[in-house]
Amino acid sequence: MKIAILPGDGIGTEIVAEAVKVLQALDLTFETESALVGGAAYEAYGHPLPDATLKLAKEADAVLFGAVGDWKYDKLDRPLRPEQAILGLRKNLGLFANFRPAICYAQLVDASSLKRELVSGLDILIIRELTGDIYFGQPRGRRVATDGHFPGAEEAFDTMRYSRPEIERIAHVAFQAARKRKASGGEGRVTSVDKANVLETFQFWKDVVTEVGLQYPDVALDHMYVDNAAMQLVKAPKKFDVVVTGNMFGDILSDAAAMLTGSIGMLPSASLNDKNQGLYEPSHGSAPDIAGKGVANPLATILSAAMMLRFSLNQPEAAARIERAVDQVLTQGLRTPDIFSAGTTRVGTVAMGDAVVKALG
Ligand code: IPM
Ligand code: MG
Repeated sequence: MKIAILPGDGIGTEIVAEAVKVLQALDLTFETESALVGGAAYEAYGHPLPDATLKLAKEADAVLFGAVGDWKYDKLDRPLRPEQAILGLRKNLGLFANFRPAICYAQLVDASSLKRELVSGLDILIIRELTGDIYFGQPRGRRVATDGHFPGAEEAFDTMRYSRPEIERIAHVAFQAARKRKASGGEGRVTSVDKANVLETFQFWKDVVTEVGLQYPDVALDHMYVDNAAMQLVKAPKKFDVVVTGNMFGDILSDAAAMLTGSIGMLPSASLNDKNQGLYEPSHGSAPDIAGKGVANPLATILSAAMMLRFSLNQPEAAARIERAVDQVLTQGLRTPDIFSAGTTRVGTVAMGDAVVKALG
């Protein structure tokens, strides 16, 4: 087993160090190799995703990724910006299936901005298609308009598009995930989020998801427009089980879902290809405002390492051990500043990582 470690920028290096510490405490045998990515790689090699980093990621069984980005790179040409590293990894590794669970820990229910009864027990899974849609659709660019409201004016455009196989494979992922959740007490329902009332691309999405759904009679399927889904997520989030949607809508809805749980600092994510190779990263960004201060919450990254063990490295026991340990440190009352509340114990990044290691037993 080989794990590529790509800490990236900002708090990325601090939180990934804690996750690696937890992995090493498990007595499993695996090889790790680190490489620069994002702004750090740009500084060293002039590119956010150098060939050597991409090669390492491709060869590894799994990638543990921190975060990339810093305001200071906002002025660079788009292909050189740190965000291009994560987009390039998704594209080059074919990581089309993005799992973003939103789970509200009982210990943190009061950290949510929503009322306790709305989020207590929340456990939903957003499955976002990650290599298509308007993110990658060609053509795109700037030009002089020849039609539209202002012919002759400068304009910019992107292309929203999905092919049948792209929709089919993400739909299968969602139905299988819902089936698995049903087997362990879940509801077994997929909500496909679209904008079929306006967009051709998402009428097609809805049609194809419906067809695929016929192969899963044991899983319920419903459809929701994205604007309504945004509303329902903050109104009655527990009504969802598995949500499947396109790249752009998934980007937006998953941030909203993350916040329901009280802290984006708690949420892991997995991005998988058809070989179960995966990239695992916290759902949050590089947080340059708190970088280097030792206060970032490492739990999302530690939980991402658990997802990695389960999905790509076939070590479900070890994954469960990490998840239990995280639960335990929360029960002990340890909190990084992002999840701190009165009556709990404030700790920093390293102390939180140490506590998880200790709780592994
Ligand atoms: C995410 C992020 C990325 C995205 C950015 C950093 C390119 O927001 O993973 O949700 O838009 O997909
Ligand atoms: Mg996002």
